[in-house]
Amino acid sequence: MLSTPDVLRRTGGRPVKSIVYDEGAIAARVQTLADDITAAYPDGELLVLGLLKGGFIFLSDLVRRIERPIQVDFLVASSYGDRKVSSGTVRLLYDPETRLEGKHILLVEDIIDTGKTLQRLMVLLGARSPRSMSICALLDKQLAAEPRPELRFVGFRAPPAFLVGYGLDHAENFRHLPFIADLE
Ligand code: IMP
Ligand code: MG
Repeated sequence: MLSTPDVLRRTGGRPVKSIVYDEGAIAARVQTLADDITAAYPDGELLVLGLLKGGFIFLSDLVRRIERPIQVDFLVASSYGDRKVSSGTVRLLYDPETRLEGKHILLVEDIIDTGKTLQRLMVLLGARSPRSMSICALLDKQLAAEPRPELRFVGFRAPPAFLVGYGLDHAENFRHLPFIADLE
C-alpha cells in the first residue's frame, strides 16, 4: 500500500496499491506517441476526437505535442456507470458536431478494457465516410473480446488491474491524480 503524504493529500486519505506509471514515464510516452502521430499523417485533414471523460488529460497533453494542423472535438460515450465491470452497453451522450467526411479521424481513448466501447464507436463513426479512422489509446489491458478494435497507437500495455488517475476515475474520483495508480 502506498500512503505517502503526497498521495493521501490527493486521495483524501485513501491509500493506493501502487503507482503504475509516474508523471515522468507518462510524459515521455505521450511525447513519443505525438511524434508517431505527426509522422503518420503527412497530408490531409486530421480530426482528433477525444473520448470524454477519461481521455481529457491524455488528450490535452497529446494534442499540444502534435506538430501538424489538427482539429479537436469530443465524444461522450458511457459504458461503466460507477461499477468496475464493463457492461458492454455503449451510449453516445454527445455526438461531435464537426464534419467527419473526407477527414482522417483519430479516436483518443484513455484505456481499452474489453474494447467494446471503441468497437461500437468505430462502426458508428465509420458510416460517416471518413478518409481513415484510427485509435490512439494510452493504456491497453489486452483483455479478450471479439472482435477487438485495431489499436494503431498505444501508450502502455497495462496490467489487468483497476487503474485510476491521469483522467481515469472510479465513480468520478481520482481523475486529477498526475500519475496512474492501481486502486486495488
Ligand atoms: P471497454 O469498452 O471494456 O474497453 O471499456 C473502456 C472504458 O472503461 C474506458 O473508456 C474507461 O472509461 C473504462 N475503464 C476500463 N478499465 C478501467 C480502469 O482500470 N480504470 C478506470 N476506468 C476503466
Ligand atoms: Mg471512460
